[in-house]
Amino acid sequence: MRAYRLSQFGLDHLHMKSSPPPTPGDGEVLIQVKAISLNHRDLMVIDGRYHPKLPLPAVPISDGAGVVAAVGANVDRVAVGDRIVTHFVTDWIDGPFRGEYLKTSLGTPGAGLAAEQVVLPAQAVLPIPAGYSFAEAATLPIAALTAWSALVTEGGMKTGQTVLTLGTGGVSLFALQLAKAMGIRVIITSSDDEKLVRASRLGADETINYRTTPEWDRVVLDRTNGVGVDVVVETGGSGTLERSLRATRPGGTIAFLGAITGLRSMLNVAPIVMKRLHVAGIYVDSKRNFEKLNRFLTSHRIQPVIDRTFSFEQLPGALLHLQAGAHFGKVVVEY
Ligand SMILES: NC(=O)c1ccc[n+]([C@@H]2O[C@H](COP(=O)([O-])OP(=O)(O)OC[C@H]3O[C@@H](n4cnc5c(N)ncnc54)[C@H](OP(=O)(O)O)[C@@H]3O)[C@@H](O)[C@H]2O)c1
Repeated sequence: MRAYRLSQFGLDHLHMKSSPPPTPGDGEVLIQVKAISLNHRDLMVIDGRYHPKLPLPAVPISDGAGVVAAVGANVDRVAVGDRIVTHFVTDWIDGPFRGEYLKTSLGTPGAGLAAEQVVLPAQAVLPIPAGYSFAEAATLPIAALTAWSALVTEGGMKTGQTVLTLGTGGVSLFALQLAKAMGIRVIITSSDDEKLVRASRLGADETINYRTTPEWDRVVLDRTNGVGVDVVVETGGSGTLERSLRATRPGGTIAFLGAITGLRSMLNVAPIVMKRLHVAGIYVDSKRNFEKLNRFLTSHRIQPVIDRTFSFEQLPGALLHLQAGAHFGKVVVEY
């Protein structure tokens, strides 16, 4: 069984190694991994920014899909041969988030998916939505579920409302696709006009190039009759939050989830008070909500946007491709 192990922080220290296949214990399943998708988080884990005290060596990567190859004792809802997708926060099954769930996140500090075979708790897998390939299913656990969390679980969005979503990465494009299927008006930003054309083809109602229009919050206000949007899918972090606060309507919600531009800065947070905004911190979502998402995806026939697919041997190159930021949607590795 081959797996990528990180011996020290930094992509140069990510190497493929062979080892005997793992065996599932009580309440565990062995997964033959067929596809993984990459997240911005994986880059941060690998370069040591996410969890500087992560014990090394470690196997990274948080999202995957595959087939159940063996089950341990006391596993009754999962069987050998099931086509499954992983649930990222393995202990968060239902109900409100609890601090201790963080420790059960896959790909740091929990088991990583950059391996041909991996043992996971049986509760950490769900059936792949009907009609989805392994590659498509592997895009769902973090990016799609986070978009669902922002729009539905925290945003409580309704048909006819307006969402602003930042950039054209994995989370933002799922937010676009899910929102359009819910009858929500979408304003999306990007650094690249060609990506904005592609976003329009996916149904975006309004597009703004944040590079050529640095005051994009003013454009959002113009396009919402001076009122602002109901919800912002805030993927940007500290570098975009102040403009996102300005672009939100009184009483609206900032679904704050991203760190693309960093997590520290001096901000004018007055709009939070003066507009009575709701700032919702997002950390993906529960397994119950993943199941709801999967039903929604199949009933609306939403096809994940896969930018490019790499082979297992090309994983380091796939991570560099994500880091370069030229992607549109999800980057996938198929085994
Ligand atoms: N809290 C959670 O549960 C959670 C879950 C998933 C992701 N996240 C975080 O959310 C962020 C996005 O994740 P992702 O997986 O979608 O990342 P991704 O696929 O790497 O996409 C990032 C995108 O951000 C856009 N971007 C870069 N700089 C920007 C800026 N200054 N303003 C606006 N957009 C900018 C770029 O879009 P263009 O190329 O179009 O400019 C880029 O493609 C990351 O920080 C990630 O760690 C958090």
